[in-house]
Amino acid sequence: MEMTLDVRPLSPALGAEVVGADLSRPLSDDAFACIKRAHLDHCVLVFRDQHLTPAQHIAFSRRFGDLHIHMLEQYLMEDHPEILVLSNVRQGGRAIGFEDAGRYWHSDVTYEEVPPLGSLLYGVEVPPEGGDTLFANMYAAYEALDAATKRRVAGLRARHRYNIDRRRPRRGTIHVTDEQAAKIREVSHPVVRTHPESGRKALYVNPGFTVGIEGLAETDGAALLAELFDHIDDARFQYRHIWRQRDLVFWDNRCVMHHATDYDPVHTRHMLRTTVKGDRPV
Ligand code: SIN
Repeated sequence: MEMTLDVRPLSPALGAEVVGADLSRPLSDDAFACIKRAHLDHCVLVFRDQHLTPAQHIAFSRRFGDLHIHMLEQYLMEDHPEILVLSNVRQGGRAIGFEDAGRYWHSDVTYEEVPPLGSLLYGVEVPPEGGDTLFANMYAAYEALDAATKRRVAGLRARHRYNIDRRRPRRGTIHVTDEQAAKIREVSHPVVRTHPESGRKALYVNPGFTVGIEGLAETDGAALLAELFDHIDDARFQYRHIWRQRDLVFWDNRCVMHHATDYDPVHTRHMLRTTVKGDRPV
């Protein structure tokens, strides 16, 4: 039976719920085209009440491109390295997932030369409150800059790096091994990138991984970034996703930042993420 999809905006800033999709089944080309269009238009898509095996999660994600394998291999799902486990579940005293991932504004993996198109996060078990994910529309953030700031950032490139300081072990979790830390390199991306599909400009700096501006003294770069981060952190650009069990949320890393929020760790938060490879930002 053909799926009839309904796309319902979730906030004035970004985000839409796609109603009528069963992502455990292969999608027709028409249904896929509708989802792809909605993703470009709304930047974050929410699919409620999905019953997905890891293989089905991966199969749906692969419709959008090849999948990225995260460098933190200790948190990849056994037999499914395309899935990064974000979880506070412990087995035998050991964290099975990256427990406090993303508790700061960031876009995924901007510390790599070719950062991802998007990420698909599946809420297997979510706490009764807290543990929400905030999303910010970086097209809107760019468009809201005043003309002088737009001129100032045009043509600048920012330096990105995986932030070892965020290793802060919680409950003994080690996020980055010494071997992984030794492989970390700095990369640079335009401060304003042009989305390869929509053609729209988006701010592409984030507090999580952007560490400086190429060609500017450390203090000048830090001052400009502080100004941009302050500008971005504004409710008018945001949507707060309050998770329900078995939500799948698919965001566009090319024009969206996100931020996981705290929750009481007596509750389980067990999430599975696939990440679709993207293009070199221009
Ligand atoms: C992430 O940064 O991908 C995790 C977001 C979340 O757990 O809400």
